[in-house]
Amino acid sequence: MKKRTIKSKLAISITLFALPLMTTLSFGQDFFKAHTNINPYQYEIAKEKTFEHAAVSSAHALASMVGAAIMQDGGNAFDAAIAVQFSLAVVFPAAGNIGGGGFMLARKTNGELIGLDYREEAPAKASRDMYLDENGNPYPNKSTRGAMASGIPGSVAGMLSIHAYAKIPLAKLIEPAIELAAFGFVISESEAKGLNANRNNFIKNSSSESAFTKKEIWKAGDTLIQPELALTLKRIQEKGAAGFYEGPTADYIVKEMSHSGGIITLEDLKKYSPKFRKPIEFDYKDHHIISFAPPSSGGILLAQMMKLIAPFDISKMEHNTAASVSLMVEAQRRAYADRAEHMGDPDFWKVPTKTLVSDHYLKQRMADYQPGIKGSSKITNAGQIHESEQTTHFSIIDKEGNMVAITTTLNDSYGNKTIVAGAGFILNNEMDDFSLKAGVPNMYGAIGGIANSIQAGKRMLSSMAPTLVTLNNKPYLTIGTPGGTTIPNQVYEGLIGIIDFKMSLKQSIDEPRFHHQWIPDNIMLETEFPEETEKALKAMGYNTLKRGHFGRMDGVQISSNGKRIAAGDKRGDDSVAGY
Ligand code: DON
Repeated sequence: MKKRTIKSKLAISITLFALPLMTTLSFGQDFFKAHTNINPYQYEIAKEKTFEHAAVSSAHALASMVGAAIMQDGGNAFDAAIAVQFSLAVVFPAAGNIGGGGFMLARKTNGELIGLDYREEAPAKASRDMYLDENGNPYPNKSTRGAMASGIPGSVAGMLSIHAYAKIPLAKLIEPAIELAAFGFVISESEAKGLNANRNNFIKNSSSESAFTKKEIWKAGDTLIQPELALTLKRIQEKGAAGFYEGPTADYIVKEMSHSGGIITLEDLKKYSPKFRKPIEFDYKDHHIISFAPPSSGGILLAQMMKLIAPFDISKMEHNTAASVSLMVEAQRRAYADRAEHMGDPDFWKVPTKTLVSDHYLKQRMADYQPGIKGSSKITNAGQIHESEQTTHFSIIDKEGNMVAITTTLNDSYGNKTIVAGAGFILNNEMDDFSLKAGVPNMYGAIGGIANSIQAGKRMLSSMAPTLVTLNNKPYLTIGTPGGTTIPNQVYEGLIGIIDFKMSLKQSIDEPRFHHQWIPDNIMLETEFPEETEKALKAMGYNTLKRGHFGRMDGVQISSNGKRIAAGDKRGDDSVAGY
């Protein structure tokens, strides 16, 4: 397999850059000195590998290697997950985060399921019409740029909750991230491009300069050092949640709010806490599938779509043909229509979960489906799906068979493009996931209504779908992906590829994807999607639209002989590690 090496152009510069910080703060390099096999200044991207005991697949090679090392040192999948989340906050600033939120779905070896919701929350001062002008129309950018776009971050509190299942002291799990921030790491070409593309946004939206905006443009092989972030992580290491939600970090966040009209207060930060949610579970052709419940729509959509197509023998229709795509799209259309109407934060809105995934309801929903005939969505002023989105997913299975799937995000790529001065991290723009106004599309073209309207303390509806699969009640697969509203569809297509079309994990991850979300009534196709299928779909009356890649799916699967097969998406720098 082709490997890609990311390495420093100027090895000597690293120590020079890092030296002043090292002396002032006397940071050690305990983790990387003890793990000389991981070199932040030269590392390889590995897309697919089989390991004897444990594996991680994530958006960044260094984060995956850190997770694998933590497990090799005696940690379990929860230890690794915490270390990976903090490391991604440093090495993958577009989506890895401490200023955002996410969902963890886990299955312990004893079969216990844990669904942890550390989604961002609307601040106490938030209100339904806060993004509307005097004519009732959404202000451009207010829910996406600057401090006002931010929900109260949940990631740090989330990691502390997960720690209840871990074995290694929290301080040790944060240490690799601190060292990566303090001493830097070498960036890839796509990271350099992302930082350059957002340079003006960072400057415009932040109250001061940050590590992300240096004078020259970024190039692959440059070293990114984040001293302020290192100090913030150190405060978390020393004080736990209080190192983020109270004291200097909280003060920095609130100060940044005042720069661009944000409304998060010290009290909001102090009050935030993650919530445990009962996962969505269903069976599909001998496989037991587990995914995330509201406030994510991901699990319900996945259950609906897979159950809607279960009565049809899709394997006979062959992969990515007009017949199989049309069947899957008609299920997508129906499920996403339900999303817009029925789903929101269950603590504020009664989500009819049981009905939505019930056999009886789903049978009715598919009653008007006619193979080979295009359905129709109500026409509305729908928006287009945004192209530069960014979230991140990682999958871990340890040697005991504990499975962890985490999808975490700032929402858009580099969130609200605002770096908290003094604290060095980027804030989310998750408020845009609320329905700002009934029927008005958000940045993913998704519409919604009262179920997902803004209220103080409410969590915005998500599409994130960290997913686990068991076979005969034994751990089998952990998978997930970023991509806004495309997420449930990607996981759906990934699972159908493995279960019905008998693909390997890696093949199913890399296959070209399609996406329909009810409104707009068209099928988005990745550029590599087969031309002849597109033609046949058009002949059936479908509108098709080619777009670049969506998602970066990362998974770990257990083979029949108990090995861990890890696969990272070809679409990004995603990389696997294990032992
Ligand atoms: O929660 C959600 O559904 C979105 N905020 C996720 C954003 C996302 O996946 C962007 N990534 N590619």
